[in-house]
Formats: sequence, structure tokens, C-alpha cells
Amino acid sequence: MSGQAHKDSFFHGDGITLRFGGVVALSGVGFHVRRDSLQAIIGPNGAGKTSLFNVITGFYRMDDGEVRLEGDRISGLPPHLVARRGIVRTFQNLEIFTNMTVLENVLTGGHLLGRYGPADFFFRTRRFFREEKELRERAEAALEFVGLSAHRDLPAGQLPFGSQRLLEIARALAAEPRILLLDEPAAGLNMKETSALGELIRRIVERKTTVVMVEHDMDLVMRISDRILVLNYGEVIASGTPSEIQKDPAVIAAYLGEE
Ligand SMILES: Nc1ncnc2c1ncn2[C@@H]1O[C@H](COP(=O)(O)OP(=O)(O)OP(=O)(O)O)[C@@H](O)[C@H]1O
Ligand SMILES: [Mg+2]
Repeated sequence: MSGQAHKDSFFHGDGITLRFGGVVALSGVGFHVRRDSLQAIIGPNGAGKTSLFNVITGFYRMDDGEVRLEGDRISGLPPHLVARRGIVRTFQNLEIFTNMTVLENVLTGGHLLGRYGPADFFFRTRRFFREEKELRERAEAALEFVGLSAHRDLPAGQLPFGSQRLLEIARALAAEPRILLLDEPAAGLNMKETSALGELIRRIVERKTTVVMVEHDMDLVMRISDRILVLNYGEVIASGTPSEIQKDPAVIAAYLGEE
């Protein structure tokens, strides 16, 4: 791919390949995500959706291919540096610290970005206190945004499941992502919660945060996504708008073949 194409693309991946021994989880996957849009990634179980998030965020090292954000290479960076570039994720299986309060959980998200060093911490420099204050304000704002402020001092494990999913999103937002990766945010939610979640995600996009969402709930995906990428057995089989994807023969075949 030419340098010019990189410059014109906000967030994209090319030729992403990931193997686990004999299993090819991702095979030559490419994607383009537009700035301030909602990109969904769908596909049957085991298609490679979570694996794609794992290689984007540096949790797994890809065997081949690359990911770039505004032309800068992201692939090859360790997870904390990917996060500092502004790419932050949530987890399919919630990764909440159940014994910590709701607010403390969200603070861990902001700490991803803390730039003060060990010396600042040790000597309690002005920089340390200023950053701690900013982190706290960001965490409070994120809780407010998802509607969990009233529960800030509750142990996170006492929140109902639907609220724990929102907490996971608040923690990611506290890191002020440019790109937010959501892995099955609606899993386990009832219809009312899912509908509210859809509105929340659209509000995140309106705040000028690009969202990439892996999701199985097709009603939600079709309702709120700008574009959809379809994976099947580790390969991209379709990409387009919700209405294009709904009538794509390869997509219909992949889903009908599932059961
Ligand atoms: N750590 C791992 N070790 C070995 N194989 C793995 C590992 N992670 C994923 N895989 C395999 O890679 C393939 C893709 O898995 P992945 O979890 O990315 O799918 P998915 O699309 O997220 O599925 P789901 O919808 O069920 O979450 C599967 O065959 C899976 O068994
Ligand atoms: Mg998954």
C-alpha cells in the first residue's frame, strides 16, 4: 500500500495474520475505519473478532500485517503504548475489580495515561498532584456520562450486571480514547438496557470518539452502525453499510450455515 493511502486513512489495518499453532485465527484481514464513525465487526463465534482486538491493542503479536493510526504504525507496540496512542478497549468477559469501588475502577482507566514518573510519585511533586486531580476529574466525568455517578462509592461487585458493563465503558472513556474498542458491549443485557446502550454509544461517537464495536446483537448493530465489517473463519467476507451487509449473499450464507 502506498504512503499516500496511509495518509488519507484515519485508522486502518492490512494483511493482519495471527496463528495459534495450527489454528489460523486471522488471515490477511484488512479494515478501514473512518474518523468519528461507528464501525461494527460481526461474524459467527470463533470468527476472529476478539483476536483482532487483541492484535490491535498489542495483547497478541500478529504474525504478519500492520495497523496504522493516522499513518503511524501501531502494530508492534506493547499494550500500554497502544493505549497512550489513544486506542482503548473493553473486554468481552468483564474485567472489573469487584472489591474496588466504582470510582476506583474508573480511576484505573485514567492511570493508563499517567505521565508522572516514579520520582514524581515518591516526592509527591506538584506534577503528581496536578495529574492526580485531573485523573479524578476525568473519572468523575466518565461516570457521569454513563449515568453511574450515584454509585461511585459502591463496591463494583454490587452493581447489577448491566451497570458493570457501563462501568467497563466508563473506565475506557476515562483514558480519553481517540478510538474505543468495545467487545460485545450488549452481551447479557436485556432489551431496555441494550436500547439505552445504543444511545450511549452514539453519544460517544458524537463526542468525536471513533468507536469499533464487536457485537452479536444484530438489531443493535443494524440500528446504530455507520459501517460493518464481517469476519468468517478469520477472513473478511464483506464490508459496507448496514443495508449493504443485510443483503450480502456471503454474509447470509455465513450466518445461515451457522446453525
Ligand atoms: N489464546 C488462544 N489460544 C489458542 N487459540 C485461540 C486463542 N484465542 C483465540 N483462539 C482461536 O482463534 C479463533 C478465533 O477466536 P476469537 O476469540 O477471536 O473469536 P470471536 O470471533 O471473538 O468469537 P466469539 O464470538 O465467540 O467471541 C478461534 O478458533 C479460537 O479458538
Ligand atoms: Mg470474541
